[in-house]
Amino acid sequence: MSYERIEVKPISPVIGAEIAGVDLSQPLGNQVFQEIHDALMAHQVIFFRDQELSLDQHKAFGRQFGELHIHPASPPPDGHPEVLIIHADENSTRVAGQGWHTDVSCDVEPPMGSILHLHKVPAPGGDTMFASMYAAYDALSDEMKTFLEPLKAWHSSEHVHKGRYGHTGKLRDGENSYPKALQPIIRTHPVTGKKGIYVNSSFTTHIDGLKKNESDAILKMLYDHIDTPEFHCRFHWKDNSVAFWDNRCTQHRALWDYFPQVRSGFRVTVAGDKPF
Ligand code: SIN
Repeated sequence: MSYERIEVKPISPVIGAEIAGVDLSQPLGNQVFQEIHDALMAHQVIFFRDQELSLDQHKAFGRQFGELHIHPASPPPDGHPEVLIIHADENSTRVAGQGWHTDVSCDVEPPMGSILHLHKVPAPGGDTMFASMYAAYDALSDEMKTFLEPLKAWHSSEHVHKGRYGHTGKLRDGENSYPKALQPIIRTHPVTGKKGIYVNSSFTTHIDGLKKNESDAILKMLYDHIDTPEFHCRFHWKDNSVAFWDNRCTQHRALWDYFPQVRSGFRVTVAGDKPF
């Protein structure tokens, strides 16, 4: 693919590219928007450096890719319901997103993409790992692909979010109301048409129609498979970096190897459609 207005440098042969030549705080012209979108489709997660963004600018960048998603349980900053706070410091007892996951797969229409801006990062540490679900799917045997193709799995928010954010009674869907959804195990990307694995160890609870021991064994096999390093890239943050990942074909996990240092920023999440 050739780009005229942005520079695109892959950080691994399989997933991830760093983009230069764009200021995300300003509205993107049509050509730049198209090139960023093409780079996201080609590389699944894209990274930008040296971006100072206010919350309004961050949201405006996200809105160029679609409506913004509201998280089911995480308390937002005042006046910005579409923004997720990502923060860890010496008082933290856990951090968001430590296990492999794709964002909010428990929603019937899970987010298309997530845009994380970190304004303060530890040095060193606090990297985020990304895994290509296309690569993971492609590496399965034809027999396993055929077995998995018709299956669906349940994804739930309750065991992930209950307790984590406290019971404020201000959940998106009403008091004590946590989303859950039945999703295909193999998902076809609506833009690229490629297939990827769509179960994750954070939100997926069980495979519909299988006995518990059968479901547990298949899910464990898939989670071990997703953990293969050749499907991954690892992003080293600097202050004011941005990562924009496509939740339809990737998983990610945040590494917490920097306690008690501070790592802080905000995520804006772009709404998506029902997986098929
Ligand atoms: C997340 O899951 O959105 C958090 C990722 C990170 O903090 O690196």
